[in-house]
Amino acid sequence: MRLKDCHNFQDFRQLAKRRLPGPIFNYIDGGADDEVTLRKNTTAFDSCDLLPSVLRGVSDVDLSVSVMGQTLYMPVYCSPTALQRLFHHRGERAVAAAAETYGTMFGVSSLGTVSLEELRAKHKNPQVYQFYFHRDRGLNAAMMQRAKDAGVEVMMLTVDSITGGNRERDLRTGFSIPFRLTLGGMIQFAIKPMWGINYVTHERFTLPQLDDHVDMSGGASSIGGYFTEMLDPSMTWDDVGQMVQAWGGQFCLKGVMTVEDARRAVEIGCTGIVLSNHGGRQLDGSRTPFDQLAEIVDAVGDKIDVMMDSGIQRGTHVLKALSQGAKAVGIGRGYLYALAAAGQPGVERALGLLKAEIERDMKLMGATSVSQLSPDNLRYLNRHHPIADARIAAE
Ligand code: FNR
Ligand code: LAC
Repeated sequence: MRLKDCHNFQDFRQLAKRRLPGPIFNYIDGGADDEVTLRKNTTAFDSCDLLPSVLRGVSDVDLSVSVMGQTLYMPVYCSPTALQRLFHHRGERAVAAAAETYGTMFGVSSLGTVSLEELRAKHKNPQVYQFYFHRDRGLNAAMMQRAKDAGVEVMMLTVDSITGGNRERDLRTGFSIPFRLTLGGMIQFAIKPMWGINYVTHERFTLPQLDDHVDMSGGASSIGGYFTEMLDPSMTWDDVGQMVQAWGGQFCLKGVMTVEDARRAVEIGCTGIVLSNHGGRQLDGSRTPFDQLAEIVDAVGDKIDVMMDSGIQRGTHVLKALSQGAKAVGIGRGYLYALAAAGQPGVERALGLLKAEIERDMKLMGATSVSQLSPDNLRYLNRHHPIADARIAAE
């Protein structure tokens, strides 16, 4: 199987699985507990059908959207993810460049493996810097100052990871940074020598967003340890309100799911929220962002930019989310498998295929711009869905 044989999400996933040592593949692929939410994130899109309009003159389709003050030439952005140089030696460099090719936004994680400054200096497309709230308030302020000095456009505070999720695949393989593998995990590395050769022949692994502040070589250096020891579970709306004021620009919260929290995000001055369950990696059994989207857009859609991520694999998933009022959607695994499979050309192929699907599906829907999509394009299969109920009540 080669890159040219990858036509969809599952194909990239298969190729990534072949290339990556098992512990790394499972870190990307896995979710929390029984992975119920992970699976539901994608099947949620099956809860409604698209209702196409015809004969509308659809030769030219404009896929651009405006979100958080940025223009994206396709309505999908690369959500920030950790540790990308473990998945392919070019890591964030490959993802940022591929996002630039498609004129879309890319995220840089505070657990990223290339510095936010380098990426901001090299690329023209909008950049999100994702961070967590640390116990050390000085560290939080320093991180925001760095992002400001670098010229990062959008700050994104992840609020669904107040503590680490229970990722049992990682417990079994011993996945941690640096590697402290179980015997089974070591064998998995041994049978993927190409990955190992690439890893050792390229730049040393570092976490440049954190290296000045956190000793990741010490004892509790697993991701779980970072969450438990470094992050501040006492964080409140007041704390975040102060951060939003200090930043003074585009600021969004990633992982908001309730109407009440969405309203508070508006009150403290956020300019965006991302409905997300972290790709099913945090609270298993939690609701999917797509199922929750209508409720949130109804409540705050005119006051703040509502985005969503988690579970998106297809152009039609994007269309359903946009029809329901999302301004743009994020993908995580959708570009990570492609990165692992083939680096920058892989991510470019994944984004290109998604873009082609969205464009084709827009034409089939009779829409020439994203602004023409609305809930009128959707019909929910379950009559007890809030939108279906409202519709029936109105009739
Ligand atoms: C993530 N995600 C994530 N989110 C975040 O705020 N900071 C981070 O460092 C990471 N790291 C990370 C690593 C890996 C391997 C994955 C798969 C995910 C979550 C990510 O931004 C996004 O919310 C989800 O990936 C969206 O779900 P899908 O598209 O993967 O289903
Ligand atoms: C994850 C963290 C790093 O999902 O956000 O693995």
